[in-house]
Amino acid sequence: MKSQNPSQPSGNNLDPWYFNYAARTAGLAASEVRALFAVASRPEVVSLAGGMPAVSALPQELIIESMNRVMRDQGSVALQYGSGQGVPKLREQILDVMAMEGIKASADDVVVTTGSQHALELVSKLFLDPGDVVLAEGPSYVTAVVIFKSFQAQTHHVAMDEHGMIPESLRENIARLRAEGKTIKFLYTIPSFQNPAGVTLSWERRLEILQIAKENSILVLEDNPYGLLHFDTPPPPALRSIEQEGVIYLGTFSKTLAPGFRVGWALAPHAIREKLILANEAAVLSPSSFSQLIVSEYLDNIDWRAQVDRFRGVYKERKEAMIEALNDYLPSLSWTDPKGGFYVWLTLPPYLDSKQMLPRAVKELVAYTPGTAFYADGNGHSNIRLSFCYPTPEAIRTGIRRLQTVISGETDLVETFSKTGPLGTVRDRNFSAPPPNLN
Ligand SMILES: Cc1ncc(COP(=O)(O)O)c(C=O)c1O
Repeated sequence: MKSQNPSQPSGNNLDPWYFNYAARTAGLAASEVRALFAVASRPEVVSLAGGMPAVSALPQELIIESMNRVMRDQGSVALQYGSGQGVPKLREQILDVMAMEGIKASADDVVVTTGSQHALELVSKLFLDPGDVVLAEGPSYVTAVVIFKSFQAQTHHVAMDEHGMIPESLRENIARLRAEGKTIKFLYTIPSFQNPAGVTLSWERRLEILQIAKENSILVLEDNPYGLLHFDTPPPPALRSIEQEGVIYLGTFSKTLAPGFRVGWALAPHAIREKLILANEAAVLSPSSFSQLIVSEYLDNIDWRAQVDRFRGVYKERKEAMIEALNDYLPSLSWTDPKGGFYVWLTLPPYLDSKQMLPRAVKELVAYTPGTAFYADGNGHSNIRLSFCYPTPEAIRTGIRRLQTVISGETDLVETFSKTGPLGTVRDRNFSAPPPNLN
């Protein structure tokens, strides 16, 4: 096949269409750990890798009733194409959900999407040209980084600590990138119970970060799937509750109800909202009427706030099981202690590489996501994201015990081949851990 595209596409040249792919597909390279995850999904493996919600905690009978009511009372609407902006009633109900995080808005400015993932894609499509820059926390949500890359944009990471994104690092990044002549299109942030680090942006920093964004005319893309899933106290109010014109807010029912419905939304300043609807129509004509009507029926007839409370209880118990197991089995390491959400960010001794260690972990029947997945710049080798959302507390404990075996084995190997003598093994409990590495 004759080359029609001078840039390097993804895939391999046994594929007869190799040279025909668009240049942007170079960003769609399969992750190196993907093949391992196929193995990791076997039942004997404890997976601390994925972000799958505990849908078994849902009242499935009540959902079946909602589905039956939708088909009985609104079947012809549910089975038909709908509006590119989403079902009007659901958009009103979404306002009640967002009000729980301090957001006041008009249903007119809500655009329903096929999960918030799709909203991320649409916003990227509207704003990103090749070579543009997106600023994002380091580490950041893996699939957001993949989307930005698929639009040939560069992700630059802003440093974080246990209080979330560091304003000074944001200022430095903006100044440096602008001095280099780069165009910063938006700041992507997950302020509450961040994926993957589990940390939450403090109230003071929320104000400061919005101020920096405003001073520099940088749009903020606030992604908030986990804000309602706090364990004891709610996170500070959403960025969108403080600033309206400079923030696009993304929400989803994936974590507070179920990801199978694929219903999320964007709340955008008016002019952007108009373009989002057009982009939504160009992509999917309309988000699924069927799913939207079931979610709407569920919100109307089921005590969804009580269900969110139930989820909080489930995740709190699992988080506590994970922290207890880490204290028992890996006391010399450091980790973040999330106050909500799904994830703990573990920092390994600097001589271990989480990506290289993964095959051995899978062999020991435990899976995790290596830190490198969450950086666009190759960082994260000494980090692991541990998800506590899906496995039971018992399975979590087993998983962390297996992880300790893996880390000890790797440490022994490094020691054996190291010329500097004993490193202070994890089992000796005398390795002095640095604070959680979030940079
Ligand atoms: C930060 C973040 N954004 C977006 C998504 C995608 O969610 P949805 O199921 O609504 O597409 C996820 C899912 O894990 C996430 O963690």
